[in-house]
Amino acid sequence: MPTNIQEKSIIVTGAGRGIGAEIARGLAADGARVTIADLSGDNAGAVAASIRDGGGKAIAVAVDVRDRASVRAMIEETVRAHGRLDVIFNNAGVAQTKPFLEITEEDWRFVTDVNALGVLIGMQESIRQMLSQGGGGKIVNTASIAGKQGYEPLAHYSASKFAVVALTQAAARAFGKERITANAICPGVVATDMWKVIDGGFKEHGLTSRDNEAFDNFAGIAVLGRASAPADLVGVARFLASSDSDFMTGQSLMVDGGMVFV
Ligand SMILES: NC(=O)c1ccc[n+]([C@@H]2O[C@H](COP(=O)([O-])OP(=O)(O)OC[C@H]3O[C@@H](n4cnc5c(N)ncnc54)[C@H](O)[C@@H]3O)[C@@H](O)[C@H]2O)c1
Repeated sequence: MPTNIQEKSIIVTGAGRGIGAEIARGLAADGARVTIADLSGDNAGAVAASIRDGGGKAIAVAVDVRDRASVRAMIEETVRAHGRLDVIFNNAGVAQTKPFLEITEEDWRFVTDVNALGVLIGMQESIRQMLSQGGGGKIVNTASIAGKQGYEPLAHYSASKFAVVALTQAAARAFGKERITANAICPGVVATDMWKVIDGGFKEHGLTSRDNEAFDNFAGIAVLGRASAPADLVGVARFLASSDSDFMTGQSLMVDGGMVFV
């Protein structure tokens, strides 16, 4: 088990399902006190309840990461329940598949409001809390292989994930002296509900002809020979939440089975 996760107060946004839920379960299994935060309060509640049923420590909070007041309330509830905030995973995200020339201003705002603005707000408000309580802290953002490569029918999604990498680097430079680190995880093709949306978009726009074709094609690029499961992200998440990663900041770690080499 990585050192120093026990009793840490850790928020995971977008933890009502998918990658976030699995990361939160892994951290709770290591003894962290986790805040399961999601736009779906029902899903967040169900994940938190299942962690508590297994003997872990978890609270659920409904949050909209695009809304600063809602993010502040999430942090306040966490501090009320767990005394402080040590780590935040800004993981909530949305995806949309659209051919490049068909992306509208509305599409751009839909994707970037959650994936880029939501991460900026989550970082700002959690860093304010960490500065006021003292003792440093850790920011871990979920970027993507699409934060390192622009993918044509995911141009606005890719742009939003490049923004996550940039925000991670900028915050690392800004807050290193206060011992607040910022790093990102870049997943590849993970079998979650999000990929159902992406895959469906490929088919809807005539870019593929059968269900799961885009998923299979993308996953086929991974040199380790398979798509990811949410569990494949948990080891790196634990490392980034623990003191084992204390001397690392500004990095975006590819955890994609070998799809993009940077
Ligand atoms: N699935 C993949 O292949 C993949 C690959 C690379 C990166 N990612 C990134 O990983 C993260 C998690 O993705 P996932 O695959 O688990 O997706 P998912 O759709 O299964 O889960 C995303 C969660 O985010 C929540 N969410 C959406 N908008 C929100 C908002 N405004 N406020 C709060 N919560 C909100 C949703 O309710 C959902 O529970 C995302 O940032 C995604 O972009 C996923």
